[in-house]
Amino acid sequence: MFFKVLTFASTALLGSHIANAQVITGDGPRPPALTTPAKEGSWTPPAGSGASLTGMGRDLYINSATDFCLLMPPDPVNQNLVDAEAVAVSYCIKPTNGTRPMPDGFIKTAHYRETADYVQISGTYDPAIMNLAANDCGGEYDNHGAEGVGNPVGVNIKNGYTNFFEFIGGCDIPGNAVFCLRTCKGDQSYPYCRNSLDLMGCLFTMPGDYDTPGFTNCQADPGLVVGAFNATYTFSQGMTPTPTIAPPAPQSSQCTTTASPTASGVTYTWNQEAAAAQTAATTTTSSARGTSTGQSSSGTNSNAAKGDSHLGALGLLVTSTLGALIAAVIVL
Ligand SMILES: *[C@@H]1O[C@H](CO)[C@@H](O)[C@H](O)[C@H]1NC(C)=O
Ligand SMILES: *[C@@H]1O[C@H](CO)[C@@H](O)[C@H](O)[C@H]1NC(C)=O
Repeated sequence: MFFKVLTFASTALLGSHIANAQVITGDGPRPPALTTPAKEGSWTPPAGSGASLTGMGRDLYINSATDFCLLMPPDPVNQNLVDAEAVAVSYCIKPTNGTRPMPDGFIKTAHYRETADYVQISGTYDPAIMNLAANDCGGEYDNHGAEGVGNPVGVNIKNGYTNFFEFIGGCDIPGNAVFCLRTCKGDQSYPYCRNSLDLMGCLFTMPGDYDTPGFTNCQADPGLVVGAFNATYTFSQGMTPTPTIAPPAPQSSQCTTTASPTASGVTYTWNQEAAAAQTAATTTTSSARGTSTGQSSSGTNSNAAKGDSHLGALGLLVTSTLGALIAAVIVL
């Protein structure tokens, strides 16, 4: 799947998710230019874990709200979320076997739902910590992809699950970037992990909890299969009407609240917030020189040299000043 760019304007109404859908084609803004790298954190791989900051492993699982992995770009300095669809790697809260540790502070909220057919994690993230643009609408990662071989290829879905799909992006709820991942098993594995609605994003394909602060673990009903909006209407991309109200989150039960994962010293050099904090500290101690710490996300990065293969024209446009303006309008 190439991209998804749907913006939903209305999510001040948390929970109702009435969308003013605006469909744009393109593969999103270039990643923010990294003017100052952050200092790498103190994390060292647990002995024998096989994890590392540069791992290219693709184990993928959801054990709980504080123990799961997300596929993300291996090189977020140069790749946005769609660029990484074919090459994404696993970032795990408890990394092993070639996967990378989840950076501290990236996951803001996470809600685990265990059903008979699938397990799901949904929540919000801080884009700056992975050098993601706040208005990067993101992509879909799944084990099918346009050629049926996976986006990316070679994901090792653990715990007996046979299909997965994941969305991550900043446009479902502007200003509050969301992720969602579901792994499915059994007879209904594909219907509950259908990957063909890549324009719809998290709220429409994985109804769940995107609003509650903190971290919870729940049992839940599986609800309707992906694309079914009610008993009589199952949508596939291109059909009309395009649903404008996301299906409600299936009933959940036995919820427990759990503490957020403890920081483990994981800071990647592309962490904009850590870099800005360091720069601010340096600027303060070296007095009033007025160094600009602003990071420009426009203009001069190397998109042209990358040979972007899909919808590159818009990608280039978005790197221009005009593009920044358009992007700003889109986010409104
Ligand atoms: C470790 O990762 C490799 C490569 O992705 C995979 O083939 C292997 O099954 C994984 N090992 C375990 C125990 O999951
Ligand atoms: C089912 O959902 C579709 C799409 O949102 C809507 O047009 C239709 O009115 C709904 N039907 C019922 C019976 O709720």
